Amino acid sequence: MYDFKTCPDRRNANSYKYNDMLKRNPDVPEGIIPFSVADMEFKNAPEIAEGLKEYLDENVLGYTAPSKAFLDSIKGWLEKRHNYKIEKEWIQLSDGVVPALGDFIRAMTKEGDGVIILSPVYYPFKKSILLNNRKVVEVDLINNAENSADLDGHTSAYSIDFEALEVAASDKNTTLIIFCNPHNPVGRVWTREELRRVYNICVKHDVFIVDDEIHNDLIMPGYEHTVMGAVAEDAGKHMGICIAPSKSFNLAGMQTSAVIIQDPEVRKAFDDSRFKGYRGATNALGMEACRIAYTRCEKWLDECVDVIHENAIYFTKFMNEHFPEIRIYPLEGTYLIWCDFRAWGMDTDELEHFMTHEAFLFTDEGYLFGDAGKGFERFNLACPKHILEDALNRLLEARRQ
Ligand SMILES: Cc1ncc(COP(=O)(O)O)c(C=O)c1O
Repeated sequence: MYDFKTCPDRRNANSYKYNDMLKRNPDVPEGIIPFSVADMEFKNAPEIAEGLKEYLDENVLGYTAPSKAFLDSIKGWLEKRHNYKIEKEWIQLSDGVVPALGDFIRAMTKEGDGVIILSPVYYPFKKSILLNNRKVVEVDLINNAENSADLDGHTSAYSIDFEALEVAASDKNTTLIIFCNPHNPVGRVWTREELRRVYNICVKHDVFIVDDEIHNDLIMPGYEHTVMGAVAEDAGKHMGICIAPSKSFNLAGMQTSAVIIQDPEVRKAFDDSRFKGYRGATNALGMEACRIAYTRCEKWLDECVDVIHENAIYFTKFMNEHFPEIRIYPLEGTYLIWCDFRAWGMDTDELEHFMTHEAFLFTDEGYLFGDAGKGFERFNLACPKHILEDALNRLLEARRQ
């Protein structure tokens, strides 16, 4: 059994999440843990620190190319954990999934082209499209919960508006989609059938797929994740699949992710795009941490998923009991739970003020994910349970005031 009960003290550790908390509210009392940025308040798997120490004892940190063992670990992980077979040559490295999005946009589209996103969605998607002078083509997800009170976790709350997606994709100036699976922030793990429909529409209209699967190891019991490249024979030729150990093993600071690109021409275009930004080098410690995670830390991950799942059950039960008017969406994947607070009738400023200055929760505000997210909140559940208990009791107290 690993330790998922100790909460590391990150207040003075230069964590973005804590820095942001203190910026948003410098008067925050001691002991408050923020619920925003998607990293975990758990200690890393001990194998990571041990393995990195061994590596440092035996190596220097000069320019370091990907080793065979590292590439094998990515191939092996995808095969074992995701039942997806790749060739090692398909693997490209990136210093993050977000940088890879920009690389794909520059490689596969031209200025002014349309790029589809399914909103509400992780906000850097929109930002990288705009910063690269492309047009954001927003296709809103369908929020089925608006029409039905019956969410049993399998009649999924959000679904894809395939008709709207087809209309968007059929515009000849729309050339790329950034797809997210599992979907941040709504927590859906798209089914094979849904993926196949997205894939068919994109291939039919020649829209290249950038498939962000950074959360794909974090799948809750009862749900099954399918790598997009597995939906059809050679589907991988029409896409770039972005994976990383950063969310699954809390290694975001290692800035190491992998992009699976089957088509050699796309691979070359992606590589050129990366080099244009002078980002050709690879991170020696990041690659080693990734290799250790994929080869030695699977048990840690399984336990971690169980803890997140228990937190999601606890969170949902607490909210349903004390705030039945707030809709909590089923957490199928990721550790980010999506909640509809519109029943409180607050505008976005009021809701943010309440969360930041009264309940001291420091969630990610729904409006960040697009207009479709206004009035919603995203809570990060990757923390020891007692932290969550304290937070929810704070919410209760603040609401009673
Ligand atoms: C869907 C999604 N993609 C990418 C990222 C960030 O990726 P990276 O840190 O590798 O750039 C996140 C982080 O929250 C995310 O949720």
